[in-house]
Amino acid sequence: MTAVLSAPVSRSVRPALGTAPVCDGRSSAVADRGPFIPALAPVVGADTRVPVTGGSVAYANLDYAASAPALATVASDVAGALGEYASVHRGAGHLSQVTTRRYEAARDTVRAFVRGRADDTVVFTRNTTDAINLAAHITPGDVVVLDIEHHANLLPWCAPKEGRSRARIVTACDTIEDTLVALEAELASKPASLLAVTAASNVTGEVLPIGKLASIAHRHGARILVDAAQLVAHRPISIVSHGIDYLAFSGHKAYAPFGAGVLIGRSDWFDAAAPYLAGGGATADVDLGDEGTTWHSGAARHEAGSPNVLGAISIAKACEALADLGPEYIGHHEAALCERLDAGLAAIEGVRPLRIFSDSTDRVGIAGFTVDGHAPRAVAEYLSSEHGIGVRDGKFCAHPLLKRLGHPEGAVRASFGAGTTSDDVDRLLNALTTLCGNAARTTTTSRPALDEGYPA
Ligand SMILES: Cc1ncc(COP(=O)(O)O)c(C=O)c1O
Repeated sequence: MTAVLSAPVSRSVRPALGTAPVCDGRSSAVADRGPFIPALAPVVGADTRVPVTGGSVAYANLDYAASAPALATVASDVAGALGEYASVHRGAGHLSQVTTRRYEAARDTVRAFVRGRADDTVVFTRNTTDAINLAAHITPGDVVVLDIEHHANLLPWCAPKEGRSRARIVTACDTIEDTLVALEAELASKPASLLAVTAASNVTGEVLPIGKLASIAHRHGARILVDAAQLVAHRPISIVSHGIDYLAFSGHKAYAPFGAGVLIGRSDWFDAAAPYLAGGGATADVDLGDEGTTWHSGAARHEAGSPNVLGAISIAKACEALADLGPEYIGHHEAALCERLDAGLAAIEGVRPLRIFSDSTDRVGIAGFTVDGHAPRAVAEYLSSEHGIGVRDGKFCAHPLLKRLGHPEGAVRASFGAGTTSDDVDRLLNALTTLCGNAARTTTTSRPALDEGYPA
């Protein structure tokens, strides 16, 4: 990412000198876009300045969907825990006991935040990708999945198990309603163990009706896994009331630094499966003779090796902070910013928002779009180098979806959350207005899309 920030802007999309609104972080309003919307909560690094052509500006972070900045409260809580940091499950010393208690308590905090069942197993993983790979490891039988998924919720199901791919891929329809019908038809056609769906698209932000999907899966004897990577920090989620069997998410998209993820769900599949990793911590007894190895049940079975304790604590602190903020307030905040962004984008000729479903009514703080005549990579470079705005470009690890949407070459994505203000949104709109108002256009870029080198 550093390389991107310091990369020279593609000359072909740089507006004529003097037209780029190099600003100081407050909007140099080209249009009156409405009253100021402040951040909902302070995030670390909100006042970071970044280099742009001719100087520096406050960074406008519109890339929350890739990794959200840490909430200030989370960072300070984790810094406190760092002062007492020691090994987990491996020491009799006082700090090892403190750290072990914190690590185990983190499971309870996560379970409470996502309203899990009391007997759900909570496994800390590296990230959502790892969590869904673990889910694929413990899931017996066929899995029904849509073609619009992030690769993390597609490829693990396609990987051969017992000599064959057990993914049954359903093509999403133009409406959510028809997509539910198509999924139901597939589940009814022959038994499947699991329906694996994303809760919110990482390309368009559209939210799927998880409760309805769970009912459909259960009606046909399947369980449901929800990829909540893009939902958990944006909307209240309840395993119990939505009827979710397994839920996966990442800390780094939920204001929790230090890289950890979660898979939470029904314990029987966790306990029936072979350990995800073989090694210390997962074993009750190891005998190289006839007795063989006895493995733990529960989370420990799949968490061999020293865990990422700060990552887990960080997720727990983020869950507490999000609960304090009130997920419904986060939803209102994002809705207000989305409305402003959508109205602004609609007014810029040449900007084309991406949408999967014509009947979707709810969206988290994500806006995917293309700009006529400008390669996505070039737009992202221009926004960074000329305006200090960070967005994502590429295929968002959702290649089949981008092809379906008619943009196999990729698109641009702006995304936001609790630390975003209306000035961040206005700066993006002003920059795109300037770009689209300038005739010089390109369809080529000097660099490959980030997907080729970066995963998120
Ligand atoms: C919907 C969705 N699922 C899964 C992932 C993978 O998350 P991670 O990179 O943390 O494993 C992402 C990341 O962008 C995502 O947006």
